[in-house]
Amino acid sequence: MSNILVTGGAGYIGSHTVHQLLERGYNVTVLDDLSTGFRDAVPEARLHICSLFDTEQVTQLLVRQQIDAVVHFAAFIAVGESTKDPEKYFTNNVAGSLSLFSAMAAAEVKKIVFSSTAAVYGNPVSTPIPETAAIAPVNPYGETKATVERVLAWLDQCRGLRSVRLRYFNACGANPEAGLSERHVPETHLIPLLLKAVVTGQPMTIFGTDYPTPDGTCIRDYIHVDDLAKAHIAAIDHLLAGGASEVFNVGTGRGFSVREVLAAVEAVTGKPVPHVFGDRREGDPAELVADSSQLRNRLGWTPEYTELERIVASAWPSEQRRWA
Ligand code: UFG
Repeated sequence: MSNILVTGGAGYIGSHTVHQLLERGYNVTVLDDLSTGFRDAVPEARLHICSLFDTEQVTQLLVRQQIDAVVHFAAFIAVGESTKDPEKYFTNNVAGSLSLFSAMAAAEVKKIVFSSTAAVYGNPVSTPIPETAAIAPVNPYGETKATVERVLAWLDQCRGLRSVRLRYFNACGANPEAGLSERHVPETHLIPLLLKAVVTGQPMTIFGTDYPTPDGTCIRDYIHVDDLAKAHIAAIDHLLAGGASEVFNVGTGRGFSVREVLAAVEAVTGKPVPHVFGDRREGDPAELVADSSQLRNRLGWTPEYTELERIVASAWPSEQRRWA
């Protein structure tokens, strides 16, 4: 079986992907500096605690483990923080990726799956959004991901580095059977915050009720983390089979409003969600829904979690423990 290096494998989407890769029989090596990841999210023997910036050590790891392909998650992800400290985001997400790509060049590793984001589209002109929509990020986080995507396109042209760039919509849910969950610090994402409000009784805030959507709240495409992990495996298989570089959206193609997510949380938990209505959060587009037909048609990927209540139910056990 092929040898895969997963950077950021101790993080939320990374750890779910590592789990699926191991289940599928891949030989997995995890590289993580544990700045935001968790040691207990991956098997101890697989984990190499190392900075992406240590090009020499990363090169040695790639050579020693005879890595065939890399899945690159390691990055900072908080949109709000990226507007307050852009240098931190450009340094970590762009320069860190460049260090990894240099190590891959030195070790002659020519395949990579890259974590990108719907944030590269900024405020889209229409939804569902196809991959051909304009790249126009509206925050530094999205810009770092768009920049790395462009670097990868050049590295393909100049050096034959094949990449699949996956643009995630709203990652959510968990795999409780595998003991995996979402643990961002601080937590900014909607579903964990709704569940936290249920557990603690402290109201959460709905950001904006005057959007041009049917119920006035923002619409997002919530994609279960296991379906995201499955997309990475399809991308790895594509590259290992000699496939060309690609860019794919990863979403269900269906949007849900904040009020609909809140209703799903109440249905799953059987409890009311304490909430208040607040102003719009800066930089939130009204509606972000993926056109993921390319990923479905070209790589045969289909999401299994298409109902909000199943997604919320998968997160509920770990969120109950987390906020208790
Ligand atoms: N929301 C609230 N209250 C909260 C938190 C969120 O009303 O306390 C709303 C937001 O305004 C938004 C929706 O819930 O309308 C979802 O918000 P999240 O913060 O969960 O997710 P985002 O859509 O802001 O961000 C996600 C990823 C980012 C990525 C972005 C791409 O988390 O990494 O999608 O557009 F950049």
